[in-house]
Amino acid sequence: MKIPAAQYYRTQEMVRRFRDKPRSGFFRSETALLDTISVESLRSVLDVGCAAGRFLGLLRDYGFTGSYTGIDVVAENLSNAWQSHPDATFLEGDVLQMPLPEKFDLVNATGILQNEPRYTALLDRMLATSSRYVMFDVKVADIEQTLVDPDVAYCEWEGCRLPVVCLSSADFRTMLQSLAEAGRVRFLSYPTPFNSETVVPSWLARWSSVGVLVDLKDPALDGEAVIDLSAKGVAL
Ligand SMILES: C[S@@+](CC[C@H](N)C(=O)[O-])C[C@H]1O[C@@H](n2cnc3c(N)ncnc32)[C@H](O)[C@@H]1O
Repeated sequence: MKIPAAQYYRTQEMVRRFRDKPRSGFFRSETALLDTISVESLRSVLDVGCAAGRFLGLLRDYGFTGSYTGIDVVAENLSNAWQSHPDATFLEGDVLQMPLPEKFDLVNATGILQNEPRYTALLDRMLATSSRYVMFDVKVADIEQTLVDPDVAYCEWEGCRLPVVCLSSADFRTMLQSLAEAGRVRFLSYPTPFNSETVVPSWLARWSSVGVLVDLKDPALDGEAVIDLSAKGVAL
């Protein structure tokens, strides 16, 4: 089954955009969350939707020397990734339709769940494939219902449409509670602008990016299970 991301991210401009993305183009939450763990002691990382492998560059800056596997549905992205990182493993396909027999110390997905209507299944898959950490980001807004309808909110590029997923704050809290049953959860929320390809209904005036890190083996789980690194609560 072809997924919208396979068409949208295959366009020349998108492939070029991720190939040329500056090393400094990380998400604020990526560094804030990686700062809380010992990246240099990770033995293996799975990066879902790795594009040109930018996240591996960031991990290397943290002293990561373990093995890295990147998955992407766009072959052109993977050949760019492989040119920059010939020592890494890259797999082509939809992460929800391929076997993942191994477990990884960290399973990451940056910039994926906000365009993935199957985000619950993806999160379950990431949790099942991790032996320690799961890291991802979502969009959250103060709206009545989680937005998943691609006719209502989408990104459009060269006639290709990608659904936009934005969680209601109530659904986000439920997600945090359920993750807290699996391990200790840290998150960082910060307001982000809509990019020029994103079409949202007028009643969605603003949203936040929220980065989440789940530690499935935190030894201090009897303490606070959910830690808000944004300090001011979910800034919506
Ligand atoms: C917004 S880009 C983010 C790229 C990278 N994670 C980064 O932060 O630079 C999304 C990437 O995920 C890939 N992707 C989206 N859905 C996917 C899926 N279900 N399986 C595998 N790759 C996927 C796309 O092809 C695209 O390269």
